Amino acid sequence: MIHIEDLALSILTKNMVIPEFKSKDSDLNEFLMLEAKDYQEQMLAITYLLQNSKTSEVVAYFSLLNDTIKFEEEDKKTRNRINRKIPYEKQRNHYPAVKIGRLAVSENYAHQGIGEQILQYVKVLFAFGNRSGCRFLTVDAYSDAVSFYEEKGDFKFFTETDVNDDTRLLYFDLKPFKDALDIVEQS
Ligand SMILES: CC(C)(COP(=O)(O)OP(=O)(O)OC[C@H]1O[C@@H](n2cnc3c(N)ncnc32)[C@H](O)[C@@H]1OP(=O)(O)O)[C@@H](O)C(=O)NCCC(=O)NCCS
Repeated sequence: MIHIEDLALSILTKNMVIPEFKSKDSDLNEFLMLEAKDYQEQMLAITYLLQNSKTSEVVAYFSLLNDTIKFEEEDKKTRNRINRKIPYEKQRNHYPAVKIGRLAVSENYAHQGIGEQILQYVKVLFAFGNRSGCRFLTVDAYSDAVSFYEEKGDFKFFTETDVNDDTRLLYFDLKPFKDALDIVEQS
């Protein structure tokens, strides 16, 4: 199994020459090659690359951006589920989040646990030492990838209103995750 600590992680820069990247999703390949730098320049998303340190091959990339989760009238069930974990006086109709805007693993490295390790990395990144409040991770998952986020990341559906859409909104609560790691560290 490949460990992502053994790969070179970097944030995309303006002058970086991006080696060819081929995941099984052509839109995501195109985003990295043609659009990611513009999003970064406009401060709309930060793209992280994981590369094979010997060959520079791009193993995977992901893009992150700030987000908010906001409950509509029809999302009462989720609102109640989430609010049960938040002290009454801190309960809101919206909460700060970070969105995994894009995530793709090269076909050459697929099914080796890299996607799952990236989800874990992003959770840790935002559960500890944050510079601004961020309670949730979110993702608009392609229907094909929904089970990846459920099974490998323990993400939950936010709403039933998108059940017939091309993408579904899923979320992950960082606070219980952080609490569990804090307990492990203290013991
Ligand atoms: C989805 C993706 C990121 C997974 O990356 P990965 O490194 O192969 O994932 P992992 O090895 O950690 O986990 C794979 C497991 O997740 C589960 N899974 C569920 N849906 C899946 C899917 N669409 N693709 C891959 N795995 C999926 C399976 O249990 C799979 O187990 P298997 O390897 O025994 O088949 C990768 O397949 C990819 O880049 N897909 C194209 C882009 C994409 O759909 N990105 C998500 C955008 S919302």
